[in-house]
Amino acid sequence: MRTPRDATTSKTTEHENIEHESRQHESTEHERRLAAPLAGRRIKAAVIGTGAIASGSHLPALAALAAEGEVEIVAAVDIDADAVKRFCADGGVPHGYTDLDRMLAEQRPDLVSICTPPTLHREQTVAALRAGAWVWCEKPPVPTLADFDAVEAEEGTDGGPYASIVFQHRFGSGARHVRRLIADGAMGRPLVAHCQTTWYRNAAYYAVPWRGKWETEGGGPAMGHGIHQMDLLLDLLGPWSEVRAMAGRLVHEVQTEDVSTALVRFESGALATIVNSVLSPDEVSRIRIDCERATVELTHLYGHSNDNWRITPVPDAAAEDVAAWQAFGVDVPSSHLAQLRDLVASMRAGERPRSSGADGRTSLELITALYKSAFTDTTVRAGEIGPGDPYYIALHGGAPGWAPATYEEASA
Ligand SMILES: NC(=O)c1ccc[n+]([C@@H]2O[C@H](COP(=O)([O-])OP(=O)(O)OC[C@H]3O[C@@H](n4cnc5c(N)ncnc54)[C@H](O)[C@@H]3O)[C@@H](O)[C@H]2O)c1
Repeated sequence: MRTPRDATTSKTTEHENIEHESRQHESTEHERRLAAPLAGRRIKAAVIGTGAIASGSHLPALAALAAEGEVEIVAAVDIDADAVKRFCADGGVPHGYTDLDRMLAEQRPDLVSICTPPTLHREQTVAALRAGAWVWCEKPPVPTLADFDAVEAEEGTDGGPYASIVFQHRFGSGARHVRRLIADGAMGRPLVAHCQTTWYRNAAYYAVPWRGKWETEGGGPAMGHGIHQMDLLLDLLGPWSEVRAMAGRLVHEVQTEDVSTALVRFESGALATIVNSVLSPDEVSRIRIDCERATVELTHLYGHSNDNWRITPVPDAAAEDVAAWQAFGVDVPSSHLAQLRDLVASMRAGERPRSSGADGRTSLELITALYKSAFTDTTVRAGEIGPGDPYYIALHGGAPGWAPATYEEASA
């Protein structure tokens, strides 16, 4: 505690006191900056990969937060020099690069959005983390659990930097409201759920050379298309405990599956069925959860707002309970912007963001288990796929009839 100043204090002592206080102030300020390095300034953001999702979703989200004084978009990177030039011109981004390492060294961004194809996510995320940047990496996170664990090992231990996965369907007012209702047990226990990503993709879609292949697309609709809905289901229902699945290749000439079905048991005891397809003419993304006192249903295609959610109570539910369940509040649609706001708040607080670490790994683990169950005709339990398991390093697990011929030959 400071003591009252003695009126007879000599000038020298007073001067020393002032110097001491000023040094104390400086070191407190220094400590504060170390503890909160982003305090009082904009977060410097960079975008890697300037294709469809970067221009359609990341740039608008970053621009919205730039307009609020939260971030500053400092650079973009793409191996295609014309693409990055166009992106920078359209978005008013000052520095364009074709080399990620050079950009990281010269711009020292605080946050890097990774919007490249999935097979590049691991090396680019690691490069950004090592340069001290937080990462917001597009889904699917990385091709395998081994890749995910390698990335997680590069994260900071206390206060970041962390790598968060883009799972924008978890964010927005609808998902937040329903997550809270379920976590609080407001509608009773969740009992049974349906999770559907039944989409349609034609032959022209699969004529693009990198699609339909394990090596370049990472997986079939379970990985590339259904991951958002499964991730949201897990976010709402919590940890799963076991899965039994089937996969088929019914229409498309692909290495991967074009449809899969799965039965999942959750730690809570709830049961779920999951369907992921790219052969369903009537397309829908849907989650339905029957709780003891109400059914919650989300029906949409690529994103949702409050209107996409419906809550149907049991006949004898009290009117005030129903009103509370149906009070979704101010509509905040699921979106990249909604997730980015959350991520920026975590960065400023120096806290692990949602959708990173174990929380960002859950859907990849369920998908890996789904493939293993389908290809080995067994029940797979949560936590069982680790180093030494063929599915830890490849989603096809080397399974005959599913693994690429080159993989089977190499491991023969
Ligand atoms: N969150 C969502 O809803 C959503 C929707 C669509 C796509 N995605 C994901 O976003 C990612 C990108 O998809 P897209 O549709 O934008 O693809 P895209 O092909 O349109 O864009 C990818 C860009 O990455 C660039 N690139 C390739 N190699 C690079 C490298 N080594 N360094 C820098 N840039 C490189 C390409 O030149 C291209 O401009 C994928 O993981 C995809 O699954 C997410």
